[in-house]
Amino acid sequence: MLAFFFIIGLSFLVMASTLINMLGDYLFDVRIQGDRAGLEKWAVQAAAMLHGKDARGMDDITRRAGAELGGRVLLLDAQGKVQVDSFQQAMGQRLHYPEVISVLQSGLMTDFGVHSLSTGDAASRLNLLGFAPKDEWASYSTAAIVQSSHVIGVMLLVSSVREMMNSLLMLQNNMLLLFVGVALAAVIAGMVFSRVLTQPIWDMTRVIQSMSKGDLGVRAQVRGSGEIRQLALAFNSMSDQLESLNQTRNQFVSNASHELKTPLATMKIMIESLIYQPDMDAELRTEFLSDVNQEINRLSSIVSDLLTLVHADSRTGRLNRERMSLAEVVKDTQHRLAPIAEQNGLTIQLNLEDSCDMYADKAKLQQVVYNLMENAVKYTPSKGSIKVSLQRVGRDAVLTVADDGPGIPRDSLPHIFDRFYRVDKARGRGSGGTGLGLSIVQQYVNLHGGSVRAASEEGQGTVFTVELPLNKG
Ligand SMILES: Nc1ncnc2c1ncn2[C@@H]1O[C@H](COP(=O)(O)OP(=O)(O)O)[C@@H](O)[C@H]1O
Ligand SMILES: [Mg+2]
Repeated sequence: MLAFFFIIGLSFLVMASTLINMLGDYLFDVRIQGDRAGLEKWAVQAAAMLHGKDARGMDDITRRAGAELGGRVLLLDAQGKVQVDSFQQAMGQRLHYPEVISVLQSGLMTDFGVHSLSTGDAASRLNLLGFAPKDEWASYSTAAIVQSSHVIGVMLLVSSVREMMNSLLMLQNNMLLLFVGVALAAVIAGMVFSRVLTQPIWDMTRVIQSMSKGDLGVRAQVRGSGEIRQLALAFNSMSDQLESLNQTRNQFVSNASHELKTPLATMKIMIESLIYQPDMDAELRTEFLSDVNQEINRLSSIVSDLLTLVHADSRTGRLNRERMSLAEVVKDTQHRLAPIAEQNGLTIQLNLEDSCDMYADKAKLQQVVYNLMENAVKYTPSKGSIKVSLQRVGRDAVLTVADDGPGIPRDSLPHIFDRFYRVDKARGRGSGGTGLGLSIVQQYVNLHGGSVRAASEEGQGTVFTVELPLNKG
């Protein structure tokens, strides 16, 4: 800002002084033209009288010229000696002013100069326009007096330039005052303006600082309009997301610890029983050990599901795409689940309208199909039927997995994709579920740019629908 003001101030000063100089030059020029023209006219009249040494005539003309031109007029002969002085002071003196000499010796018809009235020294016009000339200055104009092509004398007009100087000085002072005033106003306005501009940024910096210290609840103040407002809004929405992410993470960690703790507690009880009842009969002991083994299986499936989820969360190594057929995946899954289905007296019907060849991560889609069909098998009571269909709709593959099981209660439906969520905790655990299966499904489908939704009517059954873009690669 200082540099800015310095440049502006400097250019203002240069401009002002140039303007004043130009104005001064102009005023001087007008003055010179007037003085010269007037003096030349009187010089012509004075020629005859100087030639004829008509003292009275010379006196008369000098006085009249002085009155008309507004200054002191002197009549000099060819040697530069004063013949008549309208102020009656310099009679008989020889004057050596450069203006006189130039007319008498260099053949100029007229000349002009500026001198100090107290010292008689010549000065350049620009010098006169200093800040405060102490001397009084006068302009010296000369005109040759010519008689039959001979210069026989000089007429000299001395007139004060005080008034002109004064008005120029006044102008200069006014400009200086104006400059100081404008500069002051500009500095103040600039300071206020920059403060108004930077204040919201300072505020936001403070908010960011307290946020990075761990206080995720703080928000930037949204005010004004334009970029700063947008910045504050964007920052706040980012903060919201961060806060909710943090909450989700905490929730997840606490859920996960809880899920891991339950099997551990069960195992501890059983192992303690084994330790403190060394004479337990062999059959019971085997049963306890097999229970422990089951809990270990549970723990390991939770951990592997968690690892799967975390892996799908990370941005690196996202999808391992290859050419594959979704219909084949469905058929394979039916084969894998056939034994359990048979055991439960369930039928699985496939309706594969299209092979749905696509360029996708086969392993992940296998997991998606398996999780959905496994749920259907797991949660449908015996004699139920499961229908899996696959169609092509536009550029999407649409997979539906429908069962006629117990369905999902209306208030649970929005949560079934949440991590660790199970409608019936006890039943879910009994069937070995972790509550992570649908989270994984959603994560993988989203990674492929698709969507998954569930529709269910309590007592009627459940339908899961997956839409996957048929990426042909
Ligand atoms: N086909 C279905 N019929 C009824 N309930 C289901 C079905 N699929 C999922 N659910 C409910 O959604 C919950 C979450 O499913 P999921 O994430 O796969 O976890 P789980 O490990 O329990 O199977 C299940 O516990 C169950 O209550
Ligand atoms: Mg499941």
